[in-house]
Amino acid sequence: MINLLTIVGARPQFIKAAALSRVIRNEFHTTVNEVILHTGQHYDASMSDVFFKEMQIPEPAYNLDIGSDSHGIQTGKMIQGIEEAIISEKPDGVVVYGDTNSTLAGALAASKLHVPVLHIEAGLRSFNKQMPEEINRITSDHVSTLLFSPTKTGVKNLSLEGITHSKSSPYSFDNQGVFHCGDLMYDNTLFFKNLAIDTSPILKDLDLLNRPYILATVHRPANTDELLNLKSILRALNKISIEKQIRVILPLHPRTSSIINKLKSEGIPELNDPSSKVQFITAVSFLDMICLESGASVILTDSGGVQKEAWFMEKPVVVLREETEWVEIIQSGNGILTGASTEKIVEAAGNYIESPPTSFPPIFGKGRAATEILEVITSAQWM
Ligand code: UD1
Repeated sequence: MINLLTIVGARPQFIKAAALSRVIRNEFHTTVNEVILHTGQHYDASMSDVFFKEMQIPEPAYNLDIGSDSHGIQTGKMIQGIEEAIISEKPDGVVVYGDTNSTLAGALAASKLHVPVLHIEAGLRSFNKQMPEEINRITSDHVSTLLFSPTKTGVKNLSLEGITHSKSSPYSFDNQGVFHCGDLMYDNTLFFKNLAIDTSPILKDLDLLNRPYILATVHRPANTDELLNLKSILRALNKISIEKQIRVILPLHPRTSSIINKLKSEGIPELNDPSSKVQFITAVSFLDMICLESGASVILTDSGGVQKEAWFMEKPVVVLREETEWVEIIQSGNGILTGASTEKIVEAAGNYIESPPTSFPPIFGKGRAATEILEVITSAQWM
């Protein structure tokens, strides 16, 4: 039996962990035993509990309840708690997902105890070290033993940093194994899409059934804490909604929500346009989000996960950033980088509404990434 300790903490990690845990339960329960540790980085019910319930993720054996703080305090407390859990669980490997502070803490705590790190979603790069996620990715990849990349670009990025697949096992952090296995989030979209469309009440509740609308999300510090950027994005949303007479639905991450509430109380013009058709709603569950994505005409986002889900749902995506890790989406023409520029966002969304793209080749695998990853974990030699 292989004993894995899985570290999760932030919303996108619950979604990825759901796919792997489901396949462990269904196909690998005789060979893999998983214990889950939740750092508590995301703690609001709408950011955490609802995902565990809806996606049937096993109850975490550990919850560190770390919450929000400066990066140093948040990550430091996580390392301390994860280290204690590793010492008491003695896992064969520690699984970390993506690029959050919880990923970094898990990778550092495990590698310093010489426990193999299994990094899922390895090799992605934005080449922008101002983003905390970029630091987290680079550091986690360099201390990992098994690296699972969802795209060929990810594998190439790793080789440019000297991380290449070793032809001889056992793999270790001095002799890394790099595997191209597709994207767990695609597994989940395929698994949950029909259920979401059949059961989620959100389109009916928002009166969106059979009506065109745009879906938008904004949560990155560069777009929320930088007020000029946030205002520029809000102006773009107002303008598109008025010019195209289309509703824009914006589910709010708690950080964005608290900033919007503050700006509302200051009465800024961007939040006070009576003809705007922009509607803010609270953060939604995974099934509601999939449902909203499936019906949208265009998706505007600064989230990495939502960019990919747009692709899975065959929707064009306007990326509210200057660069992206998911370069294949931009290269295909089905996505465009606009940053926070009002003019660029309005033009891009308008073009996609007029002539939506039609071809979405399978760049994120076949929807069986979890099985492929677990086949490697259970058949390769690693230490
Ligand atoms: C984190 C990840 C980011 C990911 C995002 C997904 C890092 C560095 N960033 O960013 O890569 O895209 O999750 O959502 O790890 N807050 C709440 N309730 C919560 C969670 C957060 O109110 O349940 C608020 C707090 O005010 C906090 C702020 O959101 O200060 C930021 O939370 P934090 O977890 O530090 O980072 P995210 O922005 O969520």
